[in-house]
Amino acid sequence: MAYNLLKGKRGIIFGALDESSIAWKVAEKAHAEGAIFTLSNVPVSIRIGKTNELGTKLNSKVIAADATNIQDIENLYKESVNVLGGKIDFILHSIAMSLNVRKGRKYDDLDYEMMSKTLDISAISFHKILQIAKKMDVINEWGSVVALSYIGAQRTMNGYNEMSQAKAMLESIARSFGYFYGRDKKVRVNTVSQSPTFTKASSSVKGFDGMYNYSDKMAPLGNSSGEDCADYCITLFSDLTKKVTMQNLYVDGGFSTMGMSMELMDAYGISLDS
Ligand SMILES: NC(=O)c1ccc[n+]([C@@H]2O[C@H](COP(=O)([O-])OP(=O)(O)OC[C@H]3O[C@@H](n4cnc5c(N)ncnc54)[C@H](O)[C@@H]3O)[C@@H](O)[C@H]2O)c1
Repeated sequence: MAYNLLKGKRGIIFGALDESSIAWKVAEKAHAEGAIFTLSNVPVSIRIGKTNELGTKLNSKVIAADATNIQDIENLYKESVNVLGGKIDFILHSIAMSLNVRKGRKYDDLDYEMMSKTLDISAISFHKILQIAKKMDVINEWGSVVALSYIGAQRTMNGYNEMSQAKAMLESIARSFGYFYGRDKKVRVNTVSQSPTFTKASSSVKGFDGMYNYSDKMAPLGNSSGEDCADYCITLFSDLTKKVTMQNLYVDGGFSTMGMSMELMDAYGISLDS
């Protein structure tokens, strides 16, 4: 069911690779809620993925940009404002990549060149997106910028590796930049911390199935799906959350507050009477 929550709003959505991408679900829901937006991704992902297919389906222009490249972001903003007919109201940063994870490097054997690239792609790109938007003044007052995170920023999760540092930095950028953007331009900046979700990015995390099942059994409401996450992002882009900023907001079925659930005790054969 749609509520016209984003009627008249213009946006930019980064990171829709294929149907499993969280950004894909956000794009579908933003479209259903009346928004117009451009889609962006790195050229290689546009070539091998399905971003163009989504663009055709939702009547959204696809503009290639590497989110670590300043010129690409400037060009994306210029073109988006031009194509959409005015300044932007919302941006989704749905971008992550871990080179060490991809290469199978363990956390106590990291390659630092790769780690620095991981941080650039998965966290510093968020700062670049915000800083360039502010300098170019492309976001309207009460606009909203959201990046996707994971609880691996706060807790140690086996297999999440250097992405823990990337997410901690991403969330910190939302707090710091949220202050400057809110003070000077009334723009909101938040991160949304999502449950494990089966996507291309998560498929490279070793033992991801286990992470998924564990949190699903721990969370009283079960894991949040890509669609659940997208619904939450839509509320953050809407005018209903105008005073929410500089937050890391969990959409995780309650996982982040839990210590032990009956389902997990059952799964591990722990008796309540012992
Ligand atoms: N899948 C999960 O379990 C999960 C859980 C919590 C948070 N997240 C976060 O959600 C976001 C989206 O991931 P996803 O799971 O939908 O996977 P995904 O693989 O569908 O999306 C990741 C996207 O990042 C893009 N990307 C990579 N390098 C880029 C660059 N230099 N510039 C621009 N784009 C680039 C990829 O092309 C891809 O579209 C990520 O930030 C991820 O960490 C995912």
